[in-house]
Amino acid sequence: MNSKLLLVMAIFVASAMVIMAESSRSQKTTHHQELTETNLKIIKRSEWNAAKPIDKSPLNSSVPYVIVHHSASPPACYTRLACQNALRSMQRTHQLVNGWDDIGYNFLIGADDDGDGEIYEGRGFGVKGAHAPGYNYRSIGICLIGNWSESVPPQGMLDKMKQLINYGVEKGHIQRNYRLHGHRQVKATECPGKALQAEIEKWEHFRRASRATKR
Ligand SMILES: *[C@@H]1O[C@H](CO)[C@@H](O)[C@H](O)[C@H]1NC(C)=O
Ligand SMILES: *[C@@H]1O[C@H](CO)[C@@H](O)[C@H](O)[C@H]1NC(C)=O
Ligand SMILES: [Zn+2]
Repeated sequence: MNSKLLLVMAIFVASAMVIMAESSRSQKTTHHQELTETNLKIIKRSEWNAAKPIDKSPLNSSVPYVIVHHSASPPACYTRLACQNALRSMQRTHQLVNGWDDIGYNFLIGADDDGDGEIYEGRGFGVKGAHAPGYNYRSIGICLIGNWSESVPPQGMLDKMKQLINYGVEKGHIQRNYRLHGHRQVKATECPGKALQAEIEKWEHFRRASRATKR
């Protein structure tokens, strides 16, 4: 092989590598842009008139589990006002009856507007929840407001949950290879309802087996 041909081949290979690297980088950038905070509307505590937390414990920055819940009661809320009332009522019960620091969940999702789904900030990311003993220090707890025993939540609520989890992964609050569980997998409870449990069992990150360790 003459050296000129060798040189041409080397230049060809090198430019192909540059093009590949560029295209993978631009894909990553696009993916990242889909998940910026401006695209993901989270209704803040102040917007649902949350009471102050009594106390707060920090959560490990990157958790390996996402635990799904339903509220059972209060029932599904289809307007902003009904959802605000449901959130405040849960927070009152959790603080005044259960004696917890705050509403137990990290996030809640309502069926408003008309099933499109809205994400509400509970304790938020970076704060330890009170929703699944043994898992609170290593999970994000998401409650879909309503009783989802017999019926699956509106698609909009499920989409919002997926977006919230992906956002948490992008921001480093949830590990990339996280395990998705329904509450009933880590505690003897009906939660998150038969229908919702069957739904999440079809999701990519759903995992069956789990080891419970108390903390
Ligand atoms: C926090 O998460 C990291 C990464 O998964 C883990 O190695 C560490 O043990 C965790 N720390 C606590 C206190 O759970
Ligand atoms: C949720 O729905 C199921 C099935 O309709 C029912 O048996 C259960 O009592 C309901 N839970 C609450 C807390 O209302
Ligand atoms: Zn639950």
